[in-house]
Amino acid sequence: MRFLDKIVWITGASSGIGEALAYQFAKEGAKLVISSRREKELQRVKENIISECLIIPLDITDNLSVENALNIAIKHYEKIDLLVNNAGISQRALALDTQEVVDRKIMEVNYFGTINLTKKVLPHMIKNGSGQIAVITSLVGKFGFPLRSAYAASKHALHGFFETLQIELKTNHIYITIICPGRIKTNISFNALNEDGSVYGKMDEGQDKGMSADDCAEKILTCIYKKQREVYIGGFDILMVYIKRYFPLLFHLIVSRIKPT
Ligand SMILES: NC(=O)c1ccc[n+]([C@@H]2O[C@H](COP(=O)([O-])OP(=O)(O)OC[C@H]3O[C@@H](n4cnc5c(N)ncnc54)[C@H](OP(=O)(O)O)[C@@H]3O)[C@@H](O)[C@H]2O)c1
Repeated sequence: MRFLDKIVWITGASSGIGEALAYQFAKEGAKLVISSRREKELQRVKENIISECLIIPLDITDNLSVENALNIAIKHYEKIDLLVNNAGISQRALALDTQEVVDRKIMEVNYFGTINLTKKVLPHMIKNGSGQIAVITSLVGKFGFPLRSAYAASKHALHGFFETLQIELKTNHIYITIICPGRIKTNISFNALNEDGSVYGKMDEGQDKGMSADDCAEKILTCIYKKQREVYIGGFDILMVYIKRYFPLLFHLIVSRIKPT
């Protein structure tokens, strides 16, 4: 019961990693707020949760929706102990083919939506004298990858923002945990955007072989509990972070041979 009675708000909880996180936090005694756009899916998730669980539908790109959600959460629980910024959307298109509107949509969901909610929750945490914010970025937040230009850019941007928060909030007893998963078997490729904004609608081969969302969520809980600053979760794909850092030429060689999916 590592999170007994902690108020934990998870975005993107209707599917994949967010859904698995909701189940694991509930098992560890947390009281939940679960958010995403699809209320029916959130209802399905809630039915599998025994602990207190408040559904707040929310479109992370809509400022009014974010403000309303925060008001409802604070009115219900009076505080948020942990915000898990997990909502996100991916891409399956070459940079040159990707329409500007798609680049912007991915940045709106993954970056601007995430930082907007974070900046609205933070003053409440600072007033309470404590709090923790986790953000699910990606290994692709550490290096570029074919067919993911906007996605990789949005995740790199999150690193810039949240690393800065780690420094700026040092004296406020607010902890920031940046979590970079590799390939996890979820619906992310189904929901990813093509160059024209249509939905990719397929399970990638790599995704299919990825770690399960449950295993990923279990590891995430431990990293959050330990208040780690930055963590990589996955299989051999994690090695790429270190190869890029220490052997940049080798990294370039490997990435340029990857069959893009
Ligand atoms: N799976 C992987 O291999 C992998 C690897 C690295 C990082 N990640 C990151 O992990 C996070 C979760 O992804 P996943 O793999 O679990 O994919 P997923 O199954 O597609 O889940 C994405 C979640 O984000 C929500 N969402 C999307 N747009 C939203 C919006 N505008 N407002 C609110 N919620 C929104 C979706 O819910 P609704 O549709 O109901 O809104 C859904 O719950 C993402 O940030 C992703 O980038 C995934």
